[in-house]
Amino acid sequence: MSDKKLIAPSLLAADFSNLAHDIEMVNKSDADWFHLDIMDGVFVPNISFGMPVIKAMAKHTKKPLDVHLMIVEPDRYIQTFADLGANVLTVHVEACTHLHRSLQSIKAAGMKAGVALNPHTPVASLSHIIEDIDLVCLMSVNPGFGGQSFIEATYEKVCELRNIIDENKGSTLIEIDGGVSDQNASQLIAAGADVLVAGSYVFSATEPASTIANLSAQVNS
Ligand code: DX5
Ligand code: ZN
Repeated sequence: MSDKKLIAPSLLAADFSNLAHDIEMVNKSDADWFHLDIMDGVFVPNISFGMPVIKAMAKHTKKPLDVHLMIVEPDRYIQTFADLGANVLTVHVEACTHLHRSLQSIKAAGMKAGVALNPHTPVASLSHIIEDIDLVCLMSVNPGFGGQSFIEATYEKVCELRNIIDENKGSTLIEIDGGVSDQNASQLIAAGADVLVAGSYVFSATEPASTIANLSAQVNS
């Protein structure tokens, strides 16, 4: 596991009428991954991209695709996202009755397996399955929308999760998703985070590429 702290811009905040332009900006930037938010209007009260749009986007992305499924019955789409070239596929623990089986299916399809937790879901819910998880995505906002305020209780969850992973001598990555900016990035990394997702902070900036570069430099200095 590399010690580099990773930045994953969320395309949910990109200009949907000019996706190729924004994807190219991320390709050329210091970003490490693309974060792709998939919403079904059922698990969360919003719908993001459908399959034709995701396929078109995936043709342009030149960095690892980190796909965050905010959908019910995610098992139905594991192979679809593997075929699209997803590198990390994250399912919500709240949407998986048989989480262990879902994780095995994701890995069998050749992807890294991620598990996302809503803000109210305790990290202890993963303590017996942590060795099977490549990435835990801690939601620091309620999933469904970009541009929301960061929930402060996340710091404590990061510390607790870090302890669970370290006690198992594991290499599971901790990703933080929602309301991330230069205001909380350093504290999140200090608490034990490895990957920061940033949507509106990056794409609403006047200079998104410099914003990514500065964020990456801030957490890797
Ligand atoms: C929220 C999504 C996030 C979102 C982050 O449901 O999972 O990835 O795009 O956006 P910001 O950084 O604007 O909170
Ligand atoms: Zn997300």
